[in-house]
Amino acid sequence: MGPVSDTAEPAESAEPIFQFDSLLQPEVSKCPWPYYKRMRDTNPVLRAGGDGSEVVFIAKHEDIDYVLHNPKLFSSNGDQGQQMAPLIPISFDPPVHSKWRRLLDPFFSPREMAKLEADITLQANELIDRFIDRGECDYADEYAVPLPCSVFLKIMGLPLEDLDAFVNLKDRLLRGTGESFQSQDEVQKQAHEELDARLEALLNERRRQPQDDLLTQLLHSEIDGRPLTQEELVSASNLLFIAGLDTVTDSLTCFYSFLGIHQEHRQRIVDDPEVIPRAIEEMLRYESPVTMVLPRQVTEETELGGCPLHQGDRIIPLLGSANNDERVIDDPEVVDFDRPSFRHYAFGAGVHRCLGSHLARLELRVSLREWHRRIPEYHIPEGTELQWASLLRQVEHLPLVFDRVE
Ligand code: HEM
Repeated sequence: MGPVSDTAEPAESAEPIFQFDSLLQPEVSKCPWPYYKRMRDTNPVLRAGGDGSEVVFIAKHEDIDYVLHNPKLFSSNGDQGQQMAPLIPISFDPPVHSKWRRLLDPFFSPREMAKLEADITLQANELIDRFIDRGECDYADEYAVPLPCSVFLKIMGLPLEDLDAFVNLKDRLLRGTGESFQSQDEVQKQAHEELDARLEALLNERRRQPQDDLLTQLLHSEIDGRPLTQEELVSASNLLFIAGLDTVTDSLTCFYSFLGIHQEHRQRIVDDPEVIPRAIEEMLRYESPVTMVLPRQVTEETELGGCPLHQGDRIIPLLGSANNDERVIDDPEVVDFDRPSFRHYAFGAGVHRCLGSHLARLELRVSLREWHRRIPEYHIPEGTELQWASLLRQVEHLPLVFDRVE
């Protein structure tokens, strides 16, 4: 492999494949696979951007695996973008990170999550009740956004009547203006301040009046034998909010835009609901709704796949590319629910692997099960142009039409 490219164009081709802001373009978000493949084949370690915001994208499974499993050399410490204060636990390396995970993991264990199944089933059905008689819905607005958001607000103990305000806040936090990486900073900074203020007020309320929710449990938790400071409480809650509110919505809209077109896959789920857990893993692999992890900082001079990397370089592993790398998986472009198990990186890898994966899988499983039980036949109306949001791949409006079977 050649040296890290200083431009965003492959040496071998006159055709630009990957401008710095490419990943923000809706057409790339809609269909990222050819971009990933060309990057892997031509510039698997790609230095892009400039003006102080240079980053190095990496595309091959092998390199991504190496980076994510070497936090000493590729550190998460501090730098998650200037608009954010450090977030617990994602802005820390071991051993500090490990202490936070030991504290947080039990709240999201498979056993704890299993207790939520009945309630999530109820919430999914209540949403379906609202539109099933119409024979059509906007799947994104009416199901994929409200379901994970209300599940999450309930777990945290955030007021459900503020659902719309929290959804709006989440969109500003995660999507900014959506125009370029730089222009997102100001919108996100303001949204972070607003979220911090809301969380602080709620924490103060829980101090006075404890409830059966995660905010109250965090208030009564200890790290290093002492209670968490207000700053730590806000930081941990803030990250849970950012990480937990949008990602399941992203996954659901990716899944249903796929199933709404690929009728044989939809029918397989209807005929054989037992396939749902495998279908979820395969669609998470293929779609990789969270396209990349937060930047890792190089801590000392090194190289990756023969390309020099310098101290302070910011490395962004592209998870969607790793999950579709033909070097480690046969026919990655085929969505095969019967594929032999493959350790995909849709939830990341290494020490920062997703804290909420058991919750996410539960929500996805219940969603697919309840939806296909009640609405087995559905499709996207002909001529629909889907709008894709980027980075966290999401279809913004997803019209579905169906026959009622009940
Ligand atoms: C399908 C849904 C989800 C996907 C695809 C997803 C994906 C990811 C990925 C790729 C990472 C690694 C980030 C990195 O290494 O920089 C991550 C970390 C994380 N996720 Fe998720 N996530 C999902 C749902 C959730 C939910 C529901 C929660 C809420 C509890 C959550 C909480 C977290 C947290 C707290 C981290 C940071 C972990 C650490 O730094 O140790 N995620 N997630």
